[in-house]
Amino acid sequence: MSELQVNIAGVSFKNPVLAASGTFGFGREYGRLYDISKLGGICCKAVTLEERQGNPPPRIAETPSGMLNSVGLQNMGVDYFLGSELPFMRRAKAAVIVNIAGRTAEEYRAVAEKLNDSDIAMIELNISCPNVKEGGAAFGVNAASAANVTRQVRRHCKKPLMVKLSPNAANIAEIAAAVESEGADAVSLINTITGMRIDLKSRRPVLHTNTGGLSGPAVFPVAVRMVWEVYKRVKIPVVGAGGIASWQDAAEMMMAGASAVQVGSAMFLDPYAPLKIIDGLRDYAAREKLQNISEIVGSVKAYE
Ligand code: SIN
Repeated sequence: MSELQVNIAGVSFKNPVLAASGTFGFGREYGRLYDISKLGGICCKAVTLEERQGNPPPRIAETPSGMLNSVGLQNMGVDYFLGSELPFMRRAKAAVIVNIAGRTAEEYRAVAEKLNDSDIAMIELNISCPNVKEGGAAFGVNAASAANVTRQVRRHCKKPLMVKLSPNAANIAEIAAAVESEGADAVSLINTITGMRIDLKSRRPVLHTNTGGLSGPAVFPVAVRMVWEVYKRVKIPVVGAGGIASWQDAAEMMMAGASAVQVGSAMFLDPYAPLKIIDGLRDYAAREKLQNISEIVGSVKAYE
């Protein structure tokens, strides 16, 4: 086993650095820059049962140390994904984690079922998108509804199931425990934090949907805190996301309890960020004489 190889819910990844959903598409654009199989894995843009146009523009805005998005789950639908995007990702030898979303628990289940016979590595159940009126975070901020959708998908899904949690829940550890009790194999967190900006001149919100999801370095300390709280609460692996931009951020997130990390907004500034993070973690493991990077997971020496 190499020093960066990690195991999450029975799936082996060559390193713990994954592309975060919605920031890497299906890898085609980044694939023009480098070999995308160098990443531990790719969480692809959310796929739904039917094609979706997403929200009207403007749906992206820059913020201090971050960005707001309100894309609204635009995608071509799961059948298109299976027929066109997955074959590309397979040819590129990427480990594929499919982020899925739906308006109802039945829709989530139907998408998961369509993926059963494919060779994807894992499903990431997106119950945390803050930019849609039905589904998404509406499921993820309430323990009972998060448990219900996880149960329904788990019953029909043959793939390892990672549930992506919302930082907009009052108690994210409670949601993590609820989905664990319904058979989730892992959790990933955090999705974006609901935010808003207003243009002074027009007095209009900068996003057409008024609010959107905040990501980037601004949310990193919130993400570290939430990963730490969830790590202490559940036994299943935790995958950390939220503002990771350097190998130091990745190592910090792992010390908080993350078995792997997702890199997202950082790639809009530097598309090579995940590769630099992988190299940085490898050098760090060598300097610290670690047999495997997993040795640092949850190793924070918290005060009593
Ligand atoms: C979006 O498509 O609006 C973002 C997806 C997400 O936050 O999960």
